[in-house]
Amino acid sequence: METKNIGLRGIEVADTRISNIDGEKGRLIYRGFDILDLTKNSTFEETAYLLLYDSLPTKQELDEFNGKLIDARYIPKQMQKNMGNWRKDADPMDMLQAFVSALAGYYDEEFSNKDASYEKAINLIAKVPTIVASWHRIRNGLEPMDPDSSLSHAANFLYMMFGERPDPEVEKIFDTCLILHADHTFNASTFTARQVASTRAHMYSASSAAIGALSGELHGGANTEVMKMLLEIGELDKVEGWIKEKMNAGERIMGMGHAVYKTYDPRAQVLKELSRKLAEKTKEPWYDITEKVETTTISEMKSQKDKDIYPNVDLYSASLYYMLKIPMDLNTPIFAISRVVGWAAHIIEEKFAEAAPKPALYRPKATYVGKYCGPEGCEYQTLDLRK
Ligand code: ACO
Repeated sequence: METKNIGLRGIEVADTRISNIDGEKGRLIYRGFDILDLTKNSTFEETAYLLLYDSLPTKQELDEFNGKLIDARYIPKQMQKNMGNWRKDADPMDMLQAFVSALAGYYDEEFSNKDASYEKAINLIAKVPTIVASWHRIRNGLEPMDPDSSLSHAANFLYMMFGERPDPEVEKIFDTCLILHADHTFNASTFTARQVASTRAHMYSASSAAIGALSGELHGGANTEVMKMLLEIGELDKVEGWIKEKMNAGERIMGMGHAVYKTYDPRAQVLKELSRKLAEKTKEPWYDITEKVETTTISEMKSQKDKDIYPNVDLYSASLYYMLKIPMDLNTPIFAISRVVGWAAHIIEEKFAEAAPKPALYRPKATYVGKYCGPEGCEYQTLDLRK
């Protein structure tokens, strides 16, 4: 197999109208709109509508969409009761994957048509934050909070987590994070969602598979690993030694590098600025330490391998969430709260694309490099003859 095909790098497997990355220029586009314009002018709810329906909503469309999201925020009490049976130290991504899958058992009936898929998409986008916040409270021995219908998607999540309405500045920061993470073309979890959907499996099933893919440390799990790294480093003047030691040992620095961007990830730029502003407010050292991780990794990469490397979306989101008092192990579930929008849009596109070429069942080939005993195959020995 040619090396370039490993990991499907550079292979175009389908057409999409949903998002596009210009890895050379560092631009990310959702349905034609630059992500930087969306973070300046839009809300998470408007962005979710855009990603799902291919255009920005009118005022009336947005009100209707918001109303549906707000109505769908509740999860069954029985589900919250079941969460109480889990180990309190269970990984929140395992819990999220299981309960997203379980939604299919609580709801619905109809999965086959496009309208039903939009309903499932809204149900998922609305309920994933409630699942995450409920688990957070239950594992800490607290009663889950009911959603507050007067709050935005971002503010309601923080309210369900902490039991208090966030101040507007924090709400805005969190809303921006949700916009930035909502879609990113054929990343590992979205491709997983599309691959599962290509078999005609339903929205909950494809989304729970995507959550599994997101949990890995080379994908969404990297932000939790970044925060562990920052805590281990602990102080600004220890950064250089720590990074050099790891890179000399051939280890990867979490939050750095990207399979597609060959320049600064535009999401990392926005998150960097938000993290800087928040650190000014909280007087915590995490922004400064993260920035030093960035500059040291860049210079070490240059001197060790003569290659360029840039921060990815996870580098500055880690310190940002930490300063928002979000427990470290919820960083990746929070990524899922936002990315579920992209997964849903891609699942719908995968299943119901109208324009040719229509997506097909994914079925790549592999090069067999296993045991070979000749053209007739290996001689089978019964169990009693095997040594
Ligand atoms: N730290 C140190 N070295 C790195 C890093 C890193 N973070 N990333 C890449 N490199 C090095 C590799 O060791 C490799 O060196 P080599 O050519 O001597 O073998 C070279 O750069 C190219 O590495 P690849 O794995 O081919 O680069 P790719 O672009 O495919 O990797 C990836 C992208 C997997 C994200 C990688 O940069 C990485 O492991 N980063 C750390 C994990 C991380 O932050 N993941 C989150 C990504 S964003 C997201 O999924 C939401």
